[in-house]
Amino acid sequence: MTQYALVYINMEQVDIIKFKKEDATFIREHFSSYFSDDSIESIEKRIDYWQNTLGFCITYNGEKVGMISLSDKQDGRLCWGVMIIEKYRRKGIARKAFELIRGRAKERGYSIIASSCAAGNVASVHLHEKVGFKRVKKEINSVGNEMYRWEMEI
Ligand SMILES: CC(C)(COP(=O)(O)OP(=O)(O)OC[C@H]1O[C@@H](n2cnc3c(N)ncnc32)[C@H](O)[C@@H]1OP(=O)(O)O)[C@@H](O)C(=O)NCCC(=O)NCCS
Repeated sequence: MTQYALVYINMEQVDIIKFKKEDATFIREHFSSYFSDDSIESIEKRIDYWQNTLGFCITYNGEKVGMISLSDKQDGRLCWGVMIIEKYRRKGIARKAFELIRGRAKERGYSIIASSCAAGNVASVHLHEKVGFKRVKKEINSVGNEMYRWEMEI
């Protein structure tokens, strides 16, 4: 009698890797709203800066799907930003990427991650709550939008 073996391979893998200079066009195509100056030269400079700081490309099964960064605010805190290409959202990718970058921040000796987002950005509010941020303040920004401020000890 022939016997068959079924092998299930879990292919879903999220990773954070360094951007390469040639990824500037990828970043511009998908995330230009993140940059006040979205020229290729300016994005290349940012990629260069990210080589030794906490700025990463997010990959999902080896494919580039987003970006995540923690920027030093020079008061011992870090401020984070994350963006996922629309078709890859709601798969837990931002959540996993945050866990990875949080580990890198910890290794570098940081103790607090701070953040703010629009109160109406449901996805971002949920993401902050799910990864363990505490809401510390509600405020109105300079253009009249309601904002939440978040903090987390790492
Ligand atoms: C916010 C954003 C990064 C979330 O990325 P994502 O990979 O889709 O998030 P995840 O799949 O890891 O979801 C994390 C949690 O938030 C919830 N969530 C995500 N998007 C949601 C939405 N549109 N509505 C309600 N809940 C949402 C998920 O259900 C998940 O909770 P769960 O674990 O209980 O299911 C993505 O929507 C995005 O790139 N938005 C545009 C940029 C932006 O607003 N960035 C936020 C700056 S901090």
